[in-house]
Amino acid sequence: MATATSTWTCLLYPSPAGRRGRMRVRCSSSVSVSTRREPEPVATVVKAFAPATVANLGPGFDFLGCAVDGLGDIVSVKVDPQVHPGEICIQDITGHAPTKLSKNPLWNCAGIAAIEVMKMLAVRSVGLSLYLHKGLPLGSGLGSSAASAAAAAVAVNEMFGNKLGVEELVLASLKSEEKVSGYHADNVAPSIMGGFVLIRSYEPLELIQLKFPVEKELYFVLVTPEFEAPTKKMRAALPGEIGMPHHVWNCSQAGALVAAVLQGDVAGLGKALSSDKIVEPRRAPLIPGMEAVKRAALRAGAFGCTISGAGPTAVAVVDDQQTGHDIASHMIDSFLHDGNLKASAKVLQLDRLGARRIHN
Ligand code: HSE
Repeated sequence: MATATSTWTCLLYPSPAGRRGRMRVRCSSSVSVSTRREPEPVATVVKAFAPATVANLGPGFDFLGCAVDGLGDIVSVKVDPQVHPGEICIQDITGHAPTKLSKNPLWNCAGIAAIEVMKMLAVRSVGLSLYLHKGLPLGSGLGSSAASAAAAAVAVNEMFGNKLGVEELVLASLKSEEKVSGYHADNVAPSIMGGFVLIRSYEPLELIQLKFPVEKELYFVLVTPEFEAPTKKMRAALPGEIGMPHHVWNCSQAGALVAAVLQGDVAGLGKALSSDKIVEPRRAPLIPGMEAVKRAALRAGAFGCTISGAGPTAVAVVDDQQTGHDIASHMIDSFLHDGNLKASAKVLQLDRLGARRIHN
């Protein structure tokens, strides 16, 4: 194991997937591989699913995110003697817009994360073929690139006996995010860990999972217009510096959001989600209709609404599924009427498991 240069402080809890999981995680961002013994593959094929995510959650730009269930990407990896030992070959990409994605593993989110995990594990004698199924549309604000990276990281880790912990998988997936959209873990961390995650620090990486009470109902209304909002462009729209009043306001709202998550207070969560004064005001005007869509969601009874990740998806929260569907139709109407954009909606619950091996 690579403990020589890593610093760990963690509380362990049993992870649903049987993976080494942590409630609070702290580690250095560079993990030495020199002391790790090369692991053997434990299967010939491994398939993993990673869920979609809602990053930022309003005031939590780059440090808060959560996973949503039922939507995500699937990666299969196969031991392949035709592939050069220690390398990855992307054989096929299916699902959403497969031709828009590179099959060069150095330029593909799944490929980058898979290579990173192989490096961390010091795999030198086995080559892998990788198959990516995109369940998530690209550039939608639902953590599409992160889900590919997370599924690949988990699949490769499972292939070699699940040796890496959650934090190493997040670091591997972060390499991919860094290359395609920017160094932010608010998609990859919840996609890997499930539930709500707070990124307390990047250097060293320190993650805190926030437990939303199991008995509480929480629905995310996700309305995606036919519009592209590339994360790089949406990040470029943000201010380099902010004033003290906005800093104080956003910090207090992010604190309120964390409290609401822990208390299972969906109304409080919605109020905080709606409150960002720094990022949303810069991005919303770049997404046709977004400001009106938010007003429509609130008028229709949502507890709160904001941009999901970098957009263009709008996310609203409610505590009842039927209300969620009613709100969704108001938001779709508003995107069409106010933004001249067709949109589609999903009403989803929290994914509490995160990326996991699947067997079908
Ligand atoms: N925190 C990132 C951003 C998430 O808003 O740019 C991107 O999905």
